[in-house]
Amino acid sequence: MNINDLHKAASILRQGGLVAMPTETVYGLAADARNPAALQKIFEVKQRPTHHPLIVHLATVAQLTDWAQDIPSAALALAETFWPGPLTLILKKMPYVDDLITGGQATVGIRIPQHPVAHALLKEFGSGLAAPSANRFGRISPTSAEAVYEELGHAVDFILEGGVCAVGLESTIVDLSRGVPTILRPGMITAVQIEAVLHQSVATTPSSHAPRVSGSLDAHYAPQTQTVLMSAEQLHSFLSSMTDKQAPVVVMGFNDWRTCCPLPLRMVRMPQVAAMYAHDLYAILRELDKHHYRQIIIETVPDTAEWSAVRDRLQRASF
Ligand code: TXA
Ligand code: MG
Repeated sequence: MNINDLHKAASILRQGGLVAMPTETVYGLAADARNPAALQKIFEVKQRPTHHPLIVHLATVAQLTDWAQDIPSAALALAETFWPGPLTLILKKMPYVDDLITGGQATVGIRIPQHPVAHALLKEFGSGLAAPSANRFGRISPTSAEAVYEELGHAVDFILEGGVCAVGLESTIVDLSRGVPTILRPGMITAVQIEAVLHQSVATTPSSHAPRVSGSLDAHYAPQTQTVLMSAEQLHSFLSSMTDKQAPVVVMGFNDWRTCCPLPLRMVRMPQVAAMYAHDLYAILRELDKHHYRQIIIETVPDTAEWSAVRDRLQRASF
């Protein structure tokens, strides 16, 4: 980590600028969470509707009370176990938290990221940084500094280099602001892990009264290339009778499907371990999207808890 880059990034943020910040999940587009003009820029650069709330990133749990109130013991238990890390908590907001952060709601999303560069920046900056994923609205989140540049180019004042994101999918979002703890967006910290800490079951489908989550729109995280999900059986029957008209396609799967296809086929073998699959997924989709295939075909993944975040993102990518 370059200390001069860190100072430069913090100084840009203090002046109301935008900095792309590496986190362990995906790169974020950070702005001073107390500066409405800076927050406004996030929405302009992302072309994101302003009613979609932003997550406030902090360096320490001690800062939590600057942003949230009536913090339940469940929040502290989850914070102790999973922070710093890929978990966002939805809590009752302090009155002065800007509407641009909350989407006009009574709650605020908070996360303490683990990436050393994010942590160092947050410490140096000293207050909260609002940071959505550093992609244009609805597109694939960036998991490398190069991907941020592809998405946003010079619209960002500075891109902090932090390598490839270790997790690769956005944080798990848990709403603790009302009734039963509810997972609003699955991530690599699973419902089962959260239940083990809380000693109570959590809801996994948000009720119709739950706050808005842009990541829960059906068409999200989507490549431009038409993307379809197929089970092994569906893949077998599609590929074995594939015609020139349907080509060229690329298959992301566990098996090597080239043997059952009469036509040349690009095959990307995906990891069988959920965490590795999550780590690679967005970078692979981003790369394949540049090749103008007729379709990206993705083999369905196991129906188990550890794959829930990957399954969720694949469903959205293929909508
Ligand atoms: O891993 C992550 O969470 C990444 C990194 C950069 O931290 N951030 C991220 O931010 O994914 P974004 O804005 O792309 O997605 C955040 C989601 C949005 O869908 C937003 O609607 C939801 O969090 N959210 C934020 N505040 C909320 C609130 N008060 N109530 C309900 N949902 C909220
Ligand atoms: Mg996003």
